[in-house]
Amino acid sequence: MLDLSESQARMNILAELQNRFRTALQGLVDDPTELLAMVRPSQDPKFGDYQANFAMSLGKRLGRPPRDVATEVAARLAIDDLCDPPEVAGPGFINLRLKTGWLAGAVSTALASERVGVATADPPRTYVVDYSSPNVAKPMHVGHIRSTVIGDVLKHTLRFLGHTVISDNHIGDWGTQFGMIIYGYKHFLDRPAYESRSVEELGRLYRVVNRLVGYYAAKESLPKLREQIEKQRAAVAAQAQVVPSGDKAADKNAAKALRRGESNLQELEASRAALAASIAEIDHDPHLSKLAQAHPDIGRDVLAETAKLHQGDAENLKLWSEFLPACLADIERIYQRLGVTFDVTLGESFYHDRLAGVVDDLLKRKIATISDGAVCVFNEGQAAPLIIRKQDGAFLYGTTDLATIQYRVETWSPDAVLYVVDHRQGLHFEQLFAAAKRWKPEYARLELQHISFGTVLGDDGRPFKTRSGDTVGLWGLLDEAVRRAHEVVSTGDDAKPGGPEISAERRQQIAEVVGIGALKYADLANNRTSDYTFSYDRMLAMNGNTATYMQYAYARVLSIFARGGVEIGALREQAAAIELGHPAERGLALSLLQFSEALEQTMAEYRPNFLTAYLFEVANRYSTFFEQCPVLKAPSEASRTSRLLLCDLTARTLKQGLALLRIDVVDKM
Ligand code: ARG
Repeated sequence: MLDLSESQARMNILAELQNRFRTALQGLVDDPTELLAMVRPSQDPKFGDYQANFAMSLGKRLGRPPRDVATEVAARLAIDDLCDPPEVAGPGFINLRLKTGWLAGAVSTALASERVGVATADPPRTYVVDYSSPNVAKPMHVGHIRSTVIGDVLKHTLRFLGHTVISDNHIGDWGTQFGMIIYGYKHFLDRPAYESRSVEELGRLYRVVNRLVGYYAAKESLPKLREQIEKQRAAVAAQAQVVPSGDKAADKNAAKALRRGESNLQELEASRAALAASIAEIDHDPHLSKLAQAHPDIGRDVLAETAKLHQGDAENLKLWSEFLPACLADIERIYQRLGVTFDVTLGESFYHDRLAGVVDDLLKRKIATISDGAVCVFNEGQAAPLIIRKQDGAFLYGTTDLATIQYRVETWSPDAVLYVVDHRQGLHFEQLFAAAKRWKPEYARLELQHISFGTVLGDDGRPFKTRSGDTVGLWGLLDEAVRRAHEVVSTGDDAKPGGPEISAERRQQIAEVVGIGALKYADLANNRTSDYTFSYDRMLAMNGNTATYMQYAYARVLSIFARGGVEIGALREQAAAIELGHPAERGLALSLLQFSEALEQTMAEYRPNFLTAYLFEVANRYSTFFEQCPVLKAPSEASRTSRLLLCDLTARTLKQGLALLRIDVVDKM
């Protein structure tokens, strides 16, 4: 082993270059932060490895020509241990090319490091990551996978970077869905089914009650919706009547408004059709329509059951504590298969006893006010208040979230709390954060972030559903991904030139890793704030930005070692020199050494797709290297060793990166 301590073996190239620029800028500007953000990896190798683009903005500040400023900064830059002499190009870009010898040394350093050269954060912070957080007693669906998968990556990446992280599954275990199953239990229970398979029976009760409640709600809202549609139709008709004025911009705007109006109308009509269909479904089902008729007040009664639970009614509390473990066991099954664990699972019920105190304190501090009998927090610039107690005395989602902040600060004194929750709750979190920050100075200092994400869509562009119209159950989704992965793995193995190499049992294990990995990766590789279209075929593609491609690249490296009879561990110990004479070797090395900055960038915006993009880049660079640089048949022994070590660092970087994405690798595919 090279004699290097872990701390020396960590390198964030970008941060190091920025440091050098910081020194060079001393005396020229007071605060170089903004300028330093303009030092970045080059888009094109023509412009070197990194480029500083701040001379235009600095020139403006100093009232001097940018090229002059760039030349002066380049001359002040003490960087010749790292880079070739900087070049000033165009209007004042400073192009930096790392010395190939320095890169080779840095690769050796990374090879000798357990952390493949990744630097740790300084100073470390404490994070609470609130993710997954399903409402239990409802079946988990595809929407929950996003929060679970994204949150888990944030947790593990932050931890890898040296931060303290508490993962908290803030389950909904206290809401109306429990009122629903309590009501269902009291009226529709199939006792033998409950005794043999309680979770399924609770799920059935939830669905029955939910449909009946939905039936009456739909009946109630249909007339209002009809009215809205009529209004919208009239508005569109009026818009269509507008005679073009001849003013281009105005006519363009009018046309746009008309299109928007039409699409709103279409959406309203689609909702009406959906409502009407859901009503008809019950009306046409003899069993359900009879139930509906027998329970005309089910909506109100379900709320009453929930309220009784919250008020400590003995019977409902007993039922709740009987149901909860079954519900938790059900979601645990999914977590186990996804390899997800939480440090704590503190659901909404945990905070129940704090809620009255929270409301009183906010009233006392005059942050909350009473409006129409409800207790509200009005925040500046927000259209609606955060309601924390209803007229009838009931507490709300936001009350619990405020109590949760209080508890988390008391318990862990975090620097930041991240909430990985879908974008529809954006307003809620805006209201919550604003209220919390006004509540106490220690909350004002907290970094509170809504890590928002988009919807998973089906081929039709609507939220992903099965044919029967239910949102897709997560378990079935995982099964299908694994089944298809099995096909991919089997086809690949059957086609091997020397015949299949993998046993039936091992194929099944690999399929599980590949299938689950594909599903997670497909989610993570999408910009989290956009919607994305779910596709098994795309996620399992052997080529492209998929986990499968990455896992395959990894397995391919291992197969080189196997074919060459290479003891990679022993080779690593020798600390042989790294040769980067070929551009593909150099390109791969540079990519591998950018892991640290990729992770930092990923966490700066909490965007796992930055990490997937980085790994994709590494895999592509590896592919180019592999095509252009023979490894086992390298021109010399020294080159063979160096290339094997580059393969080793590639495999370890991919493995570590995938591990942070919570995706496993296999040694054979
Ligand atoms: N249970 C909520 C839902 O399924 C998500 C909770 C998110 N976390 C929070 N602290 N509000 O919509």
